[in-house]
Amino acid sequence: MTTGTKGFGSKLVHAGAQKDAYGSVVTPIYQTSTFAFDSAQQGADRFAGKDDGFIYTRLGNPTTRALEDCVAALEGGAGAIATSSGMGAVSTVYLALLASGDHVVSTASVYGPSRTLLEKQLAKFGLVSTYVDTSDLDQVRRALRPETKMVYVETPSNPLMQITDLAAVAALARANGALLVVDSTFASPYLQQSLTLGADVVLHSVTKFINGHADAVGGILIAKETAIAARLRQMMTLIGCNMDPHQAFLVHRGLKTLALRIDRAQASAARIAAWLEARPDVAWVRYVGLKSHPQYDLARRQMSGPGAMISFELEGGLAAGERLMNRVQLAALAVSLGGVETLIEHPASMTHSGVPEAERRETGITDGLVRYSVGIEDPEDLIEDLRQALDVRGALSPGKGENRMVVCIPVNEDRGLESEVCAHFGSTPEFLIVDTDSSSCRAIPNRNQHHGHGMCAPIASLEGERIDAIVVGGIGMGALNKLMAAGIDVFMAEHATVKETIAAFTAGALKPVQPGMACAHHGHGHGGPA
Ligand SMILES: Cc1ncc(COP(=O)(O)O)c(C=O)c1O
Repeated sequence: MTTGTKGFGSKLVHAGAQKDAYGSVVTPIYQTSTFAFDSAQQGADRFAGKDDGFIYTRLGNPTTRALEDCVAALEGGAGAIATSSGMGAVSTVYLALLASGDHVVSTASVYGPSRTLLEKQLAKFGLVSTYVDTSDLDQVRRALRPETKMVYVETPSNPLMQITDLAAVAALARANGALLVVDSTFASPYLQQSLTLGADVVLHSVTKFINGHADAVGGILIAKETAIAARLRQMMTLIGCNMDPHQAFLVHRGLKTLALRIDRAQASAARIAAWLEARPDVAWVRYVGLKSHPQYDLARRQMSGPGAMISFELEGGLAAGERLMNRVQLAALAVSLGGVETLIEHPASMTHSGVPEAERRETGITDGLVRYSVGIEDPEDLIEDLRQALDVRGALSPGKGENRMVVCIPVNEDRGLESEVCAHFGSTPEFLIVDTDSSSCRAIPNRNQHHGHGMCAPIASLEGERIDAIVVGGIGMGALNKLMAAGIDVFMAEHATVKETIAAFTAGALKPVQPGMACAHHGHGHGGPA
C-alpha cells in the first residue's frame, strides 16, 4: 500500500507491509539464510542489480525490508538500513561515511560507546574527533575544521536531555561541507523529524522506543538521499551487522504502537517530572517538558512532544540515588529505555561508566544523576512507587526488607565487634555501618564507599539520610535526640552477637528507645552489634 500522503499513525501500521502468497495481514518471518533463484540467469541478474529480488539474508530479507521501508516512510528518508544493534548502526555510519584523516564534531554527552568507538578505536585508523556541547552553536562553529566531514549529534542527549538545534547545526555542517548525522533514539520518529530539519542521516537504537517492548536489540539508519543509503547498506553488509528476520519481526510489531505508547508514557513523564521537581529532597530535574529545561523553547519548536525520559539528582547525591534505586518496586533497576516497562538506572556506574570520570563531570553527568525511563504503567502507581522509595521513614515491616537498619558501632572501643559487623554486613545493601563517634571516623573496608570514600560514615552524616531505624549499642544523647527528632526509630541492641541482634530486629523483637531515655554504651565486648 502507498502511504505517502497518510498520517503518521497510518504509516506506522501500514507502511512497508509486504504482500505474501497467502495474503498474510502481517509480514511473515522469512527465517531463511538464502533465496533460491528460478534460473542461473535470474541469479546473475540479481547480483548485477537488474532484478531486485532477494539473494542472501545478510544483504536483504523481506521481513527486514518491511521494517526498513516502514521506518524510511516515518522519517521521510530515501532508504533505511536495519542493523543488529544500535551500535551496529553507529559503526556503519562512521565507517561508511568517513575516511582516514577526516574530522568529526560530536555531542560531548553522546551515548558513551558511540564516543568510545570513535575516540578510542577508530582513532587508530586516523579518524579525529572533537566533543563539544552541541546545544551551544558557538562551540560547534569553533570546532569545525576544513577536514570536518561529519557533525554527529545526539538530541535529546543521553542522559542529560540536552537539545541541539538541528536546523542551525545542519546549516553550519552544510556550509563546511560536512554531513549531519543525528542519533534520534530518545525522540523516535514520532517526536522528531530530523531529516526534515536538515540531517543527512538519522539513526536509532530500535532497542528503545521503536521496538518498545524490551525484547529485542537492534538499530536502524535512514538516509535522506539514495546515494548515501547505498553507501550505508554496502558497509553494513560488509561488516555483517544485519538485522535478523525474527528480530525485525519483533521490532516491526512493536513499532506499530509507537505513537500510542509515547503519548501515554510522555503524559505520565510530565506528571512525574513535575512531582519530582516539587519535592524538597530532589536537587534538580532535567525533563524536556519542564519550563526549567534550558532548551525548553527550542524543544517545543523542534519536537512534537517532550518524550518519556527524565534525569534527576536527589539531595544526598549518589548515596541517596542508590537507595532510591534499591527501593523502587514497580520500576526495574535496569539499563536501556523506551520500553513499556519503567526503568531506573545510574549512568555514572552503568551506561556511562566507560567515559572517563573527568569527561563525565565536564559534560554534567554527575555521580548522583539517576535516569528514569517512563513506561506505560499507571502514572499514579509510578508516583507512589517513587514516593514509597523516597519516604522510607515509618513503621517497621520486619522481613519485608523495606527498612534500612543502621548499625552504630563505637569504633574506638571494640575492634573485634567492628570486624564482626563488617563481616556480617559487608555485602548487604540494606545496612549501613556508621561510627557513633564522628571524630574517630576512619577507613573500614566495607561497602560504605559513598560515605567519605571508603570511610566508615560518621553519625553526623546521617543527617538528611532516609533511614527507618537505627540499632545502637552506644550512642550519645545529642545524636540520639537528633535521630529521634528526625523521626527515626532507635532500637537497643541487647543481644549477644551481631547476628542475633539482626535476627531480633528483623523479627520485630527489639525494644524501641523511648524519648528521653538515656542510652548508655553497653554490649561492647564481643557482644551486641553496638
Ligand atoms: C542514544 C543511544 N544511541 C545508541 C545506543 C546503542 O544502541 P544498542 O544498545 O541497541 O546497540 C543507545 C543504547 O543505549 C543509546 O541510548
